[in-house]
Amino acid sequence: MKQDIPKKINELRELVNWHNYLYHALDTPNISDQEYDRLMLELQRIEYQNPEFITQDSPTQRVGASPVKGFPPVVHREPMFSLGNVFDESQLQTWYERTCRLLGVSSFESTCELKFDGLAVSLTYQDGVLIKGSTRGDGVTGEEVTSNLRTVKSIPLRLLKPIPSVLEVRGEVYIAKSDFLQLNAKRMADALPLYANPRNTAAGAVRQLDSLITSQRPLSIWVYGIGSDDSGLAPPTQIETLDWLRSLGFPVNPYNKFCPTFESLVEICNDWGGKYDELDYGTDGLVIKVNDRTMWQELGSVGREPRWAIAFKWPAEQAVTKITNIGINVGRTGKLNPYAVMEPIHVGGVTIQHATLHNEDYILSKDIRIDDWVVVERAGEVIPQVVRVLLEYRANDSQQFKMPETCPACGQSVIRDPAQSAYFCANPLCSSQLVERVQHFVSKGAMDIEGLGLQWVRTLIERNVIADVADLYEIGPDELIEIDRMGEVLAEKILQNIQSSKQVPFSRVLYGLGISHVGSEIAEVLTSSFPSMDKFLELKEEDLTGIPGIGPKIASSVISFFQTSQNRALVKRLTSLGVGIADPQTITKGLILEGLVFCLTGTLETMPRSAAESRIKSLGGGITSQVTKKTTHLVIGREAGAQKVSQAERSNTTVIGEEKLLELFQQPDGEITLKF
Ligand code: IVH
Repeated sequence: MKQDIPKKINELRELVNWHNYLYHALDTPNISDQEYDRLMLELQRIEYQNPEFITQDSPTQRVGASPVKGFPPVVHREPMFSLGNVFDESQLQTWYERTCRLLGVSSFESTCELKFDGLAVSLTYQDGVLIKGSTRGDGVTGEEVTSNLRTVKSIPLRLLKPIPSVLEVRGEVYIAKSDFLQLNAKRMADALPLYANPRNTAAGAVRQLDSLITSQRPLSIWVYGIGSDDSGLAPPTQIETLDWLRSLGFPVNPYNKFCPTFESLVEICNDWGGKYDELDYGTDGLVIKVNDRTMWQELGSVGREPRWAIAFKWPAEQAVTKITNIGINVGRTGKLNPYAVMEPIHVGGVTIQHATLHNEDYILSKDIRIDDWVVVERAGEVIPQVVRVLLEYRANDSQQFKMPETCPACGQSVIRDPAQSAYFCANPLCSSQLVERVQHFVSKGAMDIEGLGLQWVRTLIERNVIADVADLYEIGPDELIEIDRMGEVLAEKILQNIQSSKQVPFSRVLYGLGISHVGSEIAEVLTSSFPSMDKFLELKEEDLTGIPGIGPKIASSVISFFQTSQNRALVKRLTSLGVGIADPQTITKGLILEGLVFCLTGTLETMPRSAAESRIKSLGGGITSQVTKKTTHLVIGREAGAQKVSQAERSNTTVIGEEKLLELFQQPDGEITLKF
């Protein structure tokens, strides 16, 4: 009967929400996936037949919002803070004692939570229904990403208990390590470029303009606190608040710990040592918070860091292993890059087998030899390093390492450049250099030719299909299809990608040429003054003097590249093939930030700071490393320098967050340029 329908719909919604909670928040499902799907389908069917009863908080309504042009700014009701850091027990003790002094007590209770490595978000519930979701932004103003956050299955659209008025909760959106591996495995199968790491992938997904794409990324959330609570129902302590949030339907991490004393806090911190690697999500430390939330007000904050919480960061991890060989890789400029091949070792969450040895001087200064036992270190996403040799384990007949006299790839003799303490293979036809050059040319920051991975590049060179990067544009379909395992579909996709790469901005073509000392930032600086290949062919050393950021080393490298006849022939061929033709948009784009001077502080969520700086420069803006009178904008990222913020306030500099900066990068067609 029609009047039973709302009742039936409500029952089904409650059931679906409950099972969703058991699955996503508590990790204890008690029905099979098929049974869950059956409930969901039944709900969808009834709602489809009775659309007048569809409401936004129905679990059927997670995906479906249409793509947006940008994200409106949201001013947080309470600022979203960042955290100060401590790195060891004694620094933690200093923080604890200072907090005691400020509170006028000799001891206080605390909580010890994991510090999740994802993207901070705020979720606003009105009478128990999710009405708004936003990013942290600069801590004061974030971006409204409600339709994207609605697609995250572990975020409740409706709370399990009725909470009147407004409740704002905070948490970290992340991608689990196992989900990330699966996601990349799928991308590999689809011949798509792999994502670099879970954190950036999660941040990118939350900031997608099309929520349908967000819904396809395996995002999860850990909720760790409340921003504001108008109902007055939230408990007065942090540990109870966490339990309360769990009871409302949020995923709250099970490893949150209550610490009655400083000693118990230290014990818990030490207990984590090494174990966090085994978690299925990234963490970069612990967050210690004063348990009594009424003390939070009393303690206040310094700049953007509250005094009632501190991050206890994980140390860089070290491990001992044996160097089994020293390999040499020949880079695209012919430089011989030595690296250590080691017995595989688990450190900092991953198994490593290689460490860079930089150059001969580095190897000699540390006296690193084959068969040595060494201490290796890995911190965050940094390349593994050899810290020191354990001389006590060195064999008596051990030999000092010598760089080879001939190129390990082509056998031609090598020359030493003492200025760079490096050896070079001077053979321009060296196949190893060619592989590296092509690989660099097709890479993401350059021509971004998807599907053309290292193996295919090697194959194309081995089979003489290509002998330089311009040859890529003349590959015929038959030449690819003939290659074993390539297949028609992939061949077609690659050919298409090669052709469409002709559209990339000229600066990326210049970068793709792999000129020594010309990274993507310098390429942008150069192309804003010289917007076509022709200009580079006519270039003289004096044209480059005086361009900010272009020193004599870069200038002479650029000049010598364009004076070499082989390179001149190559760029002329690329131009005649339609690659790197001056793009009028790039030139006009160069003016968007003219007259503005930026200073960046803290970690940005969507790109490295250096990439943002180069983007600013390429759009005509200036950069200062400190806030000076010249600085018009201070951009603050995560863990921004408090000093810079207060300097900005004094010197009348506008303080903006990353979202605002991205808006400034916005192109005339409304697309945000997120590719760097
Ligand atoms: S509390 C006090 N608790 O860390 C202000 N933050 O560096 C911080 N984070 O952007 C909020 N795990 O997104 C808190 N258990 C946790 C956290 C956590 C990760 C992030 C948070 C913030 C950043 C501050």
